[in-house]
Amino acid sequence: MELLLKFQTNSETETSNLGEKIGSILKPGDIVTLTGDLGAGKTHFVAGAAKTLGISDYITSPTFTIVNEYSQGKIPMYHFDLYRLSSYDDLLDIGFEEYADKAAVMFVEWPDCVQELEKIYKNRILQVKIMRRDEISPTRRDIEIRRFDK
Ligand SMILES: Nc1ncnc2c1ncn2[C@@H]1O[C@H](COP(=O)(O)OP(=O)(O)OP(=O)(O)O)[C@@H](O)[C@H]1O
Ligand SMILES: [Mg+2]
Repeated sequence: MELLLKFQTNSETETSNLGEKIGSILKPGDIVTLTGDLGAGKTHFVAGAAKTLGISDYITSPTFTIVNEYSQGKIPMYHFDLYRLSSYDDLLDIGFEEYADKAAVMFVEWPDCVQELEKIYKNRILQVKIMRRDEISPTRRDIEIRRFDK
């Protein structure tokens, strides 16, 4: 993986604002994976990106639904939470390939739950890694953005 950008945020608003900036450069077909512990700020990042895509809904983790679909923005947005999945078959069962075939932007929380995902879609993935820095402050996050080497 190639490290593209590094940021620090100090509030959920700053993380959301960063999501807005990154969201503004996304194109149909892009898949943004978000890694980081429970409560890292993945969903707040997605909420910012949704805003810049013209989606006004309140964004929450699709923890129970696995995927939330938003169609009223500039481009359709699909927001996945793979926390409860454990295999590529699980991913096929939720129709991931069909979603990936659409001209949409996809956000995927907990991508590591399905190991094959990054291999199969690597040319389309922008990886956002959010790290808590509790030793500095409970609201400090370090955020790194990577993509696979071309
Ligand atoms: N700098 C920050 N950026 C984002 N969230 C922050 C920050 N500082 C504190 N928070 C808090 O951390 C929590 C982040 O919640 P969020 O739902 O975005 O996390 P998540 O990574 O999606 O978690 P989950 O894996 O459970 O879905 C919120 O309660 C938010 O207020
Ligand atoms: Mg979340």
